[in-house]
Amino acid sequence: MEFAIVADGLTKRFGEFVAVRDVSFEVPKGQFFGLLGPNGAGKTTTIRMLTGVLRPNIGTVSIMGMDMEREPLRAKSSLGVIPEVGNVYPDLTARENLELFGRYYGLSRRTRAERASALLEELGLGGRSDEPIKRFSKGMKQRVSIGCAIIHQPEVLFLDEPTEGLDVQSRRMIVDKVKRMNREGGTVVLTTHNIEEANQLCDRVCIIDHGRVVALDTPGNLRATFEGARSVEVTFDRPVRCEAFFTQCITRVEGKGNTMRFYTSDPDEAIRNIMKVKEEQGLTILSLNTLAPSLEDVFVKLTEMSA
Ligand SMILES: Nc1ncnc2c1ncn2[C@@H]1O[C@H](COP(=O)(O)OP(=O)(O)OP(=O)(O)O)[C@@H](O)[C@H]1O
Ligand SMILES: [Mg+2]
Repeated sequence: MEFAIVADGLTKRFGEFVAVRDVSFEVPKGQFFGLLGPNGAGKTTTIRMLTGVLRPNIGTVSIMGMDMEREPLRAKSSLGVIPEVGNVYPDLTARENLELFGRYYGLSRRTRAERASALLEELGLGGRSDEPIKRFSKGMKQRVSIGCAIIHQPEVLFLDEPTEGLDVQSRRMIVDKVKRMNREGGTVVLTTHNIEEANQLCDRVCIIDHGRVVALDTPGNLRATFEGARSVEVTFDRPVRCEAFFTQCITRVEGKGNTMRFYTSDPDEAIRNIMKVKEEQGLTILSLNTLAPSLEDVFVKLTEMSA
């Protein structure tokens, strides 16, 4: 298999503090790869090493077969990055920003102009291309940042929380553009705190915590390995006290009004127990669902375990 990204044993120290410890993974060409983890886990530090902004203390990075240490210019020219903190120029207009990035990447004047116009249109900025972006809203600035990152049509795109704090329209515009690039064969690495977004978009996710990889698999496989996070959700006709339901097979109960969620590794046995309490207390069940573990359940479990 051909890999777009190979991270091998990446370690980054800041003074005594080890922010990233022995992180390794491979991302096949065309894959949509997610990097998840709590605040301070080391996601941004990892992305900065992968994009050649930070040099690892130990380990190597290769992008489209080019070693970041030995061929930094070639490696960098095949990637685009939307960093955590915007890297666009506030005093320049949207068009000037895009064209400037195009110039960095050595595109001809004509190509720069053509691509900038097309991208500005596609990102919904057509009408405001010639305004300085310091007048733009956060979502509009973020769209400019995407345009700058992809003007050279990179094969690998890194996005560090690109949709954080954006409204539905801006978010959708960005997600749609990234999905399209991925469908056309581009490789994508996405960092997000929106686990449902990762679940929907990513072919594979890497969960990191305290600078280490704690899980690396498809969202489906990760959910499947956490069958203990399965649950039964029941709505009764009136509120019920949680304590009534604690039995061996129910590991956790969450209650909100008349609806309760019972976490269990054995839904069948859990439902039998719930029925017993229902009979004893003369309750009526209005609805009952068994739920597979969500990626969020897996994430919470894994990051609790490594804490
Ligand atoms: N330049 C730096 N100097 C010192 N410590 C740093 C530096 N950059 C990051 N760190 C530390 O490294 C750890 C990982 O930071 P990083 O920004 O990679 O986390 P993150 O996973 O991106 O978090 P978030 O979800 O909040 O963006 C943190 O404890 C942070 O304080
Ligand atoms: Mg970060």
